[in-house]
Amino acid sequence: MAAVLGGKRLFSGIQPSGMVHLGNYEGAIRNWVSLQSGHESLFCIVDWHALTQRHDPEGFRERVLDLAAWILAAGIDPDRSVLFVQSDVPEHLELAWYFATVCPMGELQRQTQFKDKSQHDPDNVNAALFTYPVLQAADILLYRAEVVPVGEDQVQHLELSREVARRWNARYGDFFPEPRPVLTPAKRILGLDGGAKMSKSKGNGIALAETPGEVWAKLRVAKTDERRQRRSDPGVPEDCNIYSLHGIYTPDPRRDELGRLCREAGIGCLDCKKVLAENLEAAVGPVRERHAAWKADGQRLGEVLGDGAARARALAAGTVAEVRSRMGIRGGPLGGGA
Ligand code: TRP
Repeated sequence: MAAVLGGKRLFSGIQPSGMVHLGNYEGAIRNWVSLQSGHESLFCIVDWHALTQRHDPEGFRERVLDLAAWILAAGIDPDRSVLFVQSDVPEHLELAWYFATVCPMGELQRQTQFKDKSQHDPDNVNAALFTYPVLQAADILLYRAEVVPVGEDQVQHLELSREVARRWNARYGDFFPEPRPVLTPAKRILGLDGGAKMSKSKGNGIALAETPGEVWAKLRVAKTDERRQRRSDPGVPEDCNIYSLHGIYTPDPRRDELGRLCREAGIGCLDCKKVLAENLEAAVGPVRERHAAWKADGQRLGEVLGDGAARARALAAGTVAEVRSRMGIRGGPLGGGA
């Protein structure tokens, strides 16, 4: 198996919820690509986690495939890393149940993500949303992964994963490592409304799939620094979400120069946006094309995910067999019932 490369084992997951936008791509997927070469990596599309929020079965499978195609288009190499779908590996749920038995309720009640999501959608505060971090701990520890690239918002979930590992180990003997988060380099992508982080639910993002024309229609009207009412008004680039996007797509010294021109009112916002649109397209256009190629070859995409699932299951089966044995549970995924 090519994934055995030495280096620590790495696991990360992404939910198939909605369109993939620049924030997901820059914040998560691209970071995976840069980490995959130094680690034995597993990347998982966590479709079971996505069920904790309002769910429409219609098109859900397609969304999972679409996300897989984006991940591959971004440069995750299926010969080097394991890319798979959570629901192809039922052992995730089995381990989550065992972990639930050692996970303190109080820790779950303290999770800010649970509180935020409950507040955001008070009519859908379901038990799975509450135990979400237990399944996340199982995702990671099923592969005894130690390195977990995530955003800042997942740090608390990772603390819980470590707590679960410690408690399980204390009861059943040392087996699980304590996974640690590797924070995504802080490239905070603001939404086009300038206020919040780019997110699917806020509708303030640019989807990776959007054509240059669609992107421009959004950029053209996107908010900039409010001080710049007229072209002759000087601005503060650090307060401008367009400038924050230049931080990713426009290399220095050009970006520096744009910042200076903004401060001196030497460039209009529209022209500044045009530079961004061009550089953005240069970066994302090729990814969009590779995504289209993956989507056009459904058979190959299916094979990659099938192969990823088989490799993941081989590892998962070993962990679950050991866990069953230590917990005094019958059988094992390999069929032994002794
Ligand atoms: N909760 C993560 C998120 O919303 C997704 C996730 C699920 C995950 N399981 C994981 C991330 C395991 C890292 C490791 O971003």
